[in-house]
Amino acid sequence: MLQVKPSLLILFLIALGVFVVFDVDEETIRLEGNQWSTLRMYRSPPWQSEEKAAVDRRAPKVKTLNEAFPQKLERSIPLGCQLRKMDPWDKSILYWNDPNWKPKCDKNQTQITELKYRRLILNKTGLATDYFCEGRCLLTAQQKTDWNFEKAPWQNITTFRADCDVVEVRCGSDPSKEIEYNFLHTQIFERKDTPTYANHTSSSFAASHQDTKLPVTTSDRQRPNIYVIVFDSTSTSEFVRSMSRTLYLMKEQHQAVTFQHMNKVGINSRPNAWTLMFGKQIYELGKNPYTEEIFPDLNDTMSCDSTIDGEDFWMHRFRDIGYHTMMLDDWATGTINWPNCEGFQRPPAKHYMKPFQRRNEEKGSDAADALRNTIKDMCHETYEDTMLYLDQFMSAYRGQSEIAFLWNNNLAHDYANGLYHADDKIYRMLMNHEERLNNSFVFIMGDHGMRFGGIRRTDVGELEDNNPFLMVSVPVQFRESDLMKVLRRNSKKLMTHYDTYASIMHLAQLARTDGINELLDPRPEVFSAGHGSSYFCRAMNEPRDCATLRIPYEFCLCEKKFEKSIPANSSDSTEMANFAVSNFQRMIDEQKVTKKCQKLSLKQSDTVVKRLILADGREVYSLKLTVLPSEGIFSGYVEVEREGGKISTISMMSKRFERINSYGEQGDCVKKFEDLRPVCYCVDQKKSSS
Ligand SMILES: *[C@@H]1O[C@H](CO)[C@@H](O)[C@H](O)[C@H]1NC(C)=O
Ligand SMILES: *[C@@H]1O[C@H](CO)[C@@H](O)[C@H](O)[C@H]1NC(C)=O
Ligand SMILES: *[C@@H]1O[C@H](CO)[C@@H](O)[C@H](O)[C@H]1NC(C)=O
Ligand SMILES: *[C@@H]1O[C@H](CO)[C@@H](O)[C@H](O)[C@H]1NC(C)=O
Ligand SMILES: *[C@@H]1O[C@H](CO)[C@@H](O)[C@H](O)[C@H]1NC(C)=O
Ligand SMILES: *[C@@H]1O[C@H](CO)[C@@H](O)[C@H](O)[C@H]1NC(C)=O
Ligand SMILES: *[C@@H]1O[C@H](CO)[C@@H](O)[C@H](O)[C@H]1NC(C)=O
Repeated sequence: MLQVKPSLLILFLIALGVFVVFDVDEETIRLEGNQWSTLRMYRSPPWQSEEKAAVDRRAPKVKTLNEAFPQKLERSIPLGCQLRKMDPWDKSILYWNDPNWKPKCDKNQTQITELKYRRLILNKTGLATDYFCEGRCLLTAQQKTDWNFEKAPWQNITTFRADCDVVEVRCGSDPSKEIEYNFLHTQIFERKDTPTYANHTSSSFAASHQDTKLPVTTSDRQRPNIYVIVFDSTSTSEFVRSMSRTLYLMKEQHQAVTFQHMNKVGINSRPNAWTLMFGKQIYELGKNPYTEEIFPDLNDTMSCDSTIDGEDFWMHRFRDIGYHTMMLDDWATGTINWPNCEGFQRPPAKHYMKPFQRRNEEKGSDAADALRNTIKDMCHETYEDTMLYLDQFMSAYRGQSEIAFLWNNNLAHDYANGLYHADDKIYRMLMNHEERLNNSFVFIMGDHGMRFGGIRRTDVGELEDNNPFLMVSVPVQFRESDLMKVLRRNSKKLMTHYDTYASIMHLAQLARTDGINELLDPRPEVFSAGHGSSYFCRAMNEPRDCATLRIPYEFCLCEKKFEKSIPANSSDSTEMANFAVSNFQRMIDEQKVTKKCQKLSLKQSDTVVKRLILADGREVYSLKLTVLPSEGIFSGYVEVEREGGKISTISMMSKRFERINSYGEQGDCVKKFEDLRPVCYCVDQKKSSS
């Protein structure tokens, strides 16, 4: 069965006491005829010393071959990956589809100020004669940039000139005492870039630029622009359903290619963002029918409690070669900082919108209540700000190279139909930039799909959650070339954000050496970066399945076949569900917050247990259960072993049970522990919000 003699393999494993992990960089031992994976060895998680790892009880210590690959592997036949067709208008989800949905809002305030040619202009129509405004710049902090920003002094708008990107205006009869109108404007204030970003010191920066001969802060000609536009919580099907105009424009005008089988790699935005931005895995990937546990590249201390400027971020790479850079997230905490992570120490882009969101959400002594009230009265939405800033950026730096990265959190995160009403505005904005887009690589994408709500509780909704949107368009010069064939072929493969990371890194490398035309006849061999490979090449990492692509099994889009569900009141079902409940309780107890959370119990009647059909006889079940008093619904996988027909052990087959209905503020008393929030039902529930 094994190419390597089994006895040798056993010796090897015993000798090292290894931890078994799949990875692309280490010694390999191939399993013959095994389509789905190449086994690689790590002695310990990559960041740990071996001795430390040896005493780390969380990591399974492998002693024998049977323990490493419980006999079953020998019996196991390749799982492979059968991909499914998605139907955006599947009948089972149409009930939740509402093209006319809009946020409810009564507008009683119009926008009375504008920022034009660096000046603030007030429309005085209908205002009292003594009404006047003041303006000030909000500046990106050069230290702790994700958490701080600076405020310049207020100035009379008649003399105010904005030498900055984000401008706050406040108006009234005496706005320093009572603000009647308060708003934020943006512009792209064109300026030279600084060499002190990422992990560059001035001297390291100079050294690393000796070979490029490229001007550091300007580019005299336009190389292809890069625009990466993320809509949080947007699946392939959701984008197709609700963004028909934008889709039409990108497909018809720019021949964009839609990837059908994009698979999310983490439950929520954070892990997906880390993969997209830095090509890294930050959560453990649980043992599952495809693979043993795969350790993350970084533990939580490293990804959250440390600054991340040193990560190999494509934004920095393009900035290194003179691209103008822009980055935003329409939420102050943002994907990378949530729940309470350091993020970037220095601005990751020349035009970083963070002060806008930080001010918008500011609490405390200089709270932005007036600002929030005006915005509310205007029924103004955050995507309008992000799209305007992109619009301004695309209009700036004419004839020069740009890269922008936008993350729109708010539109679709909480509303299954949240995108519909934004389509027209986004369509028209992009249409106005045809010339730019003619010379751009545009990535429009989701990070994952809709995670909550009625639609998520359907089987189709679950698939959609796992299948974020990805659409890629390329510059005109490539649209008749072999690149399109390559892209179309790759668009039918199982894909992840790791591959998008590698693809953008690939572009950065080509742009650096002025070799972008290589894409006219894409290279035959694989271009790898992080754990992914570029879809702008003919060959990608193969084989492609949920082990090799590091997709947690619970999100894996490869077809899973199940037997009929077993009765909710059967003892098997109850045992498995109670296993999950006691798991939750253990998580709570381990963090010593037992007193803060109410005791959990199983709502037995709602348990749904289905056995996965596996050719090798393993007993793996999909488990969906409801716990009381939170009415929290969770799903995950467990493996069962039996002795004399009776269940002897139950073990997790997914890293955790995922909460699939929303939990609002139920777990706010344990906010500190990201994993516990969905699980804990706090003793003190805030009455107001429920
Ligand atoms: C708009 O309505 C809100 C309450 O809905 C009120 O507080 C606010 O003062 C009104 N604004 C104006 C300009 O009339
Ligand atoms: C000024 O505001 C009035 C009333 O809201 C509006 O009718 C007019 O078009 C505005 N003028 C400009 C130049 O925007
Ligand atoms: C703002 O400047 C204008 C023009 O200089 C002046 O007429 C006005 O009195 C100033 N307003 C305040 C409140 O200082
Ligand atoms: C993560 O790894 C670093 C470096 O080995 C270590 O100092 C830190 O304690 C680890 N953190 C966690 C949460 O395991
Ligand atoms: C900065 O980070 C890049 C990418 O991770 C790395 O290649 C480079 O060596 C680092 N430079 C310094 C000065 O640390
Ligand atoms: C964009 O490219 C298309 C196809 O080559 C061309 O027909 C169109 O005129 C271009 N648009 C602009 C504004 O340059
Ligand atoms: C389970 O429920 C079914 C139908 O509600 C009932 O017929 C059966 O007796 C129950 N079995 C057990 C073990 O309680």
